[in-house]
Amino acid sequence: MARRRATVVGAGHTRFGVLPDGPRALMRQAVDAAFRSVDRGVDRSRVEEAFLGTLGFSGWQLGNASAALAEEARIGHAPVTRVENACASAGFALRSGVRAIESGARDVVLVVGLEKMTDSPSAHRRYWLGVSGDTEWERLAGLTFAGVYALMASAHMAAHGTPPEALAAVAVKNHANGTKNPNAQFQKVITREQVLAAPRVADPLGLLDCCPVSDGAVALILAGDDMARTLTDTPVAVVGAGAGADALALQERDSLTQLAATRVAAAEAFRHAPFDRTGVQFLEVHDCFTIAELLALEDLGFADPGGAAAMTLEGATALGGRLPVNPDGGLKAKGHPIGASGASQAYEAFVQLRGAAGARQVVGAERALTHNVGGSGASATVTLFERM
Ligand code: COA
Repeated sequence: MARRRATVVGAGHTRFGVLPDGPRALMRQAVDAAFRSVDRGVDRSRVEEAFLGTLGFSGWQLGNASAALAEEARIGHAPVTRVENACASAGFALRSGVRAIESGARDVVLVVGLEKMTDSPSAHRRYWLGVSGDTEWERLAGLTFAGVYALMASAHMAAHGTPPEALAAVAVKNHANGTKNPNAQFQKVITREQVLAAPRVADPLGLLDCCPVSDGAVALILAGDDMARTLTDTPVAVVGAGAGADALALQERDSLTQLAATRVAAAEAFRHAPFDRTGVQFLEVHDCFTIAELLALEDLGFADPGGAAAMTLEGATALGGRLPVNPDGGLKAKGHPIGASGASQAYEAFVQLRGAAGARQVVGAERALTHNVGGSGASATVTLFERM
């Protein structure tokens, strides 16, 4: 018997950036947009379960945030579970929703990713950016996430001769893509020279190598593939959902230049998928810092170790290139509201595979991969999508 698949039948996305709205309003906007997007409509009473990915930045509703989603989404008494895996919260929330449908336990599920980050004072913000890092060896020793990724970048440069220009090329490409995405926080083109000359945050990473601090929310409506066409003519199937984990602190990991969690997640995602890596037409990867995009290309198996730099420098990952990466601008330019990013990547897969991505459309895209990382690689999800 064919395995039951989950499909995405609707999706809503707020703008990402410095927004005036609070967390509840952001959730409501994303959820309302998702319900409006379902072509033939789906009554809210049909949502049987929901999953909310959020860190609860700044201490917003640290307990029972799921109840706030139930209220704002107006889904009655359907159970809601909050999923917290730092920057991969929504990737794991999506995976929970997918599994609920694949198992046959649920027919219609709501998945939401949310973060409100910009309204806290900078010292408070620094604290909340740090809480997902290892406490004893990293955070209390003063190491930030930019610092952790800088260590990985230095190790990658030493091991493979990765030039700073390759890191800069990631930022330039993702900012160019961001200008084509009306939801992106940054709508400005930058040059390689500007990236290399920007103030250092944690050497070798400068300001323009970093994702920004952002507000935003994203909602996805999932349904079983056996009923998806009663809701829309263009559902997008989830054909692989993998996840992996690793030690929290960098020093406990086997390698500084590879994320084992990503490798494990990718292997699981492809295990039962109807296509292999050669069938994937574009990627949404977790580029919280420019080095992270190079690591992702290598760990996901689209470049050999050390090979992602050349691939990026020759333009293969640009829109119109052989394998476009982060056509929506990525975390770097679109913004990174921590708990929302994994759902935002799935939103991009949904609109692209329906041919509705406008100026940033990957021509003829039918299959996509999304990749969401928690912190510096303590957890990761990889999800595969295919147009039905
Ligand atoms: N990329 C490009 N421009 C950025 C930027 C970024 N990441 N962050 C801020 N800016 C711009 C702002 O738009 C602003 O421009 P303006 O003067 O034209 O308005 C200017 O730089 C100063 O902004 P400000 O918010 O004061 O910067 P900051 O020094 O407080 O913060 C970083 C800069 C890089 C430290 C901050 O964006 C950061 O911490 N990023 C990483 C977030 C993170 O770790 N997320 C988790 C990942 S695992």
